[in-house]
Amino acid sequence: MGVRPYTVLHNERRGPYCTLTVGGEVEPSEPGQFYMVRGDWGADPLLPRPLSILGEDPAAGTLSFLLKVVGRGSSLLFELEPGHKVTALGPLGRPFPMPPAPGGPPVALVGGGVGVPPLVFLARRLAAERIPYAFLQGARTKDDLLLVEDLAALGTPPLCTTEDGSAGAKGLVTAPLAVALDAGLGAVYACGPEGMLKAVAGMCAGRVPSHLSLEARMGCGYGVCLGCVVPISRGGARVYERVCQEGPVFDGEAVLWE
Ligand SMILES: Cc1cc2nc3c(=O)[nH]c(=O)nc-3n(C[C@H](O)[C@H](O)[C@H](O)COP(=O)(O)OP(=O)(O)OC[C@H]3O[C@@H](n4cnc5c(N)ncnc54)[C@H](O)[C@@H]3O)c2cc1C
Ligand code: FES
Repeated sequence: MGVRPYTVLHNERRGPYCTLTVGGEVEPSEPGQFYMVRGDWGADPLLPRPLSILGEDPAAGTLSFLLKVVGRGSSLLFELEPGHKVTALGPLGRPFPMPPAPGGPPVALVGGGVGVPPLVFLARRLAAERIPYAFLQGARTKDDLLLVEDLAALGTPPLCTTEDGSAGAKGLVTAPLAVALDAGLGAVYACGPEGMLKAVAGMCAGRVPSHLSLEARMGCGYGVCLGCVVPISRGGARVYERVCQEGPVFDGEAVLWE
């Protein structure tokens, strides 16, 4: 783990989303880990922004991220062109625990919005290890469904829901999750908006382990500033843990929702 220089190789934009691929020295990482990324834009904004790893190829020296414009830092990253320089610190954080080898019950990956990229990285690993999974993706509308073709190319097309019914089944992603839970799952992996994560944790509690990747505003990304703490239950006690260090992936039954 270290801050390294990278060069932008591609930046493919679609609406407010872009897939940014950078080249440089790449340390092997695990699905669920992230980088703190910053462009060469001078002093403002000063802090890098956390982005989950969408894909990596340490041998080729490439890393990719999918981001959505929400504010100044993400807008500047969105505007980067091939040849621009970025610095990135990583890989950071604790990854999703891999399920046991093939043969067990399938697992479900439940994603929404920019929670989808780390789950696509996980899906790629599961497909490579022939571990059966269902990918459930929820969005407000069809334009917010992400990486659907990449997922289908892995051999397991995602089951999509949209709130307005413009693609997939109309409704929330928790509806197909309820069906999958009844059919039997080994574990559930989720990343996305807090309301979705809270619902997933509640549905899985007492039935099946859930591994949730949480978001928080981050300062340093490596455990020093304490800007990213969330309340967690440990042995019945309420403690605060750092999303960047003890997370971003937490046991769904341990997360205390505020
Ligand atoms: C571990 C981790 C992985 C992430 N992975 C991705 C990813 O793969 N792709 C992606 O697009 N985004 C990802 N994010 C979120 C991303 O880091 C933020 O959207 C980004 O930092 C916002 O910076 P900004 O300067 O554009 O927005 P700011 O100008 O800082 O904020 C703009 C608005 O967005 C809100 N906001 C900013 N950051 C967050 C946040 N983390 N959670 C909730 N609201 C926020 C602010 O309250 C404000 O209203 C991740 C966050 C974490 C913690
Ligand atoms: S971002 Fe600084 S401690 Fe987590």
